Amino acid sequence: MINGHKKDIGASLLYERVAGEIAGLVEQGTFRAGDRLPSIRQLSTRFDVSINTVMQAYALLEDKRLIEARPQSGYYVRSRVPEIREPDLQSRSCIVPTTVTISELCHQVMHNMMNRDLLPLGSAIPSAQNLPIDKLNRIMASELRRWSEQGVLYQMPPGYERLRVQIARRALVAGISSGPDDILVTSGCVEAVFLALRATCRSGDTIAVESPFYFNFLQMIAELGLKALEIPSTPREGISIEALRYAIEQSKISACLIIANFGNPLGSLMPDERKRELVDLLARHEIPLIEDDIYGDLTFGNDRPTAAKSFDRSDLVIYCSSFSKTIAPGYRVGWAIGGRFQAEMERIKMIMNVAPASPPQLAIAEFLATGGYDHHLRSIRRAHARNISQMAEAVVRYFPAGTRMTHPAGGFILWIEMPEGTDAIMLYHRALEKGISIVPGPLFSLSDKYSHHIRLSAAQWDEKIEQGIKTLGVLAHELLPK
Ligand SMILES: Cc1ncc(COP(=O)(O)O)c(C=O)c1O
Repeated sequence: MINGHKKDIGASLLYERVAGEIAGLVEQGTFRAGDRLPSIRQLSTRFDVSINTVMQAYALLEDKRLIEARPQSGYYVRSRVPEIREPDLQSRSCIVPTTVTISELCHQVMHNMMNRDLLPLGSAIPSAQNLPIDKLNRIMASELRRWSEQGVLYQMPPGYERLRVQIARRALVAGISSGPDDILVTSGCVEAVFLALRATCRSGDTIAVESPFYFNFLQMIAELGLKALEIPSTPREGISIEALRYAIEQSKISACLIIANFGNPLGSLMPDERKRELVDLLARHEIPLIEDDIYGDLTFGNDRPTAAKSFDRSDLVIYCSSFSKTIAPGYRVGWAIGGRFQAEMERIKMIMNVAPASPPQLAIAEFLATGGYDHHLRSIRRAHARNISQMAEAVVRYFPAGTRMTHPAGGFILWIEMPEGTDAIMLYHRALEKGISIVPGPLFSLSDKYSHHIRLSAAQWDEKIEQGIKTLGVLAHELLPK
């Protein structure tokens, strides 16, 4: 029964009333942004109404954008922060290839990420608290005893076989059917992407990338003497296929590089249909797709999203990933499923650095086989989902009115859009003076965009981090245009 009202009130009124009750609970703070709401069954019992009524109530609240459904997981309270604005996909003036100039600022920002004296609000590095350190240490020690020779000798490309078997099994969860021989172990995901670019492009070529896009890849494109063509991307759909189609008609594109699942920095999750459309479009033009799926395992729901590679019928997608966001960034264990380009990537890899270090390959292989990776994933997904919603709430509390942000369904990154005119680079410098590192938005493009955006990492959440957000909010207020 709801507040004394019996269920014999007209059905339409009843579900509105249930919706009103739930909205009231959110209003009072009983359920906050990011919290999971009671299941349909639980509410039906609690309110003494039918399952159908609760479903209608949840649908109404979804329409009002107060809550959201997460596949296989349930209903969650949405953040009340206005979402960032979608780019104007009709505007084609932004689709111009740019030669990257290596930015001193970018180098400085990356350097600061490693500075332990700074509050790490910028770096997209998982918190050590959320990594299985003790278990990994035990596994590493016992594997090195068990396979002492293997640990000290080279594991020549394509890499340690037991590890490749485990990776091939996990790839199935992302919808990729592969065998151990399809996998090339690399020194992290960055090396996998580097090898993919080397294998598909020549100096002067143009690469289509998302915008905004992970700054390290923009730097890499520069280092390789390539040009980046920035295609608008949105949190809901990822890279704009319409804009990409137009770009393909206008310029010669040698490869396309994207992060389809929980991209950096937008946290975008490309729906399956769009992934398929993208893969098909590129295949029709014989353009290789390089897919970075490093955040794919970090969904907040129960089911990991599929990889774009799972729609690849032409063997033209190069899948790149690593365990840097989930198990141990310092182990530098990544991999590529290179399709047609696998042999060339392997050749370049051997020339560049022969092989990745052997002990981490042994340890990760065993961790995947027996260490409870799925259990571990469930726990870090929960932690990140909680951190993201607490950080989002804090941004709402402390940042100037008019601030917007993304609502990612995975990963641990928030992309913040402050009111127009707020200088993100100035905010970065002032934050550094206060002992806080953030990443200013302009690094995520090559063409003077995102001047009032910043990227925050919610890998960790505690009082110090909340204080850091408060300080950033004060600074952002000071930087508001007069
Ligand atoms: C999208 C993306 N790819 C790759 C990396 C780095 O990967 P790795 O440490 O495995 O080389 C990062 C780290 O921030 C990232 O955000």
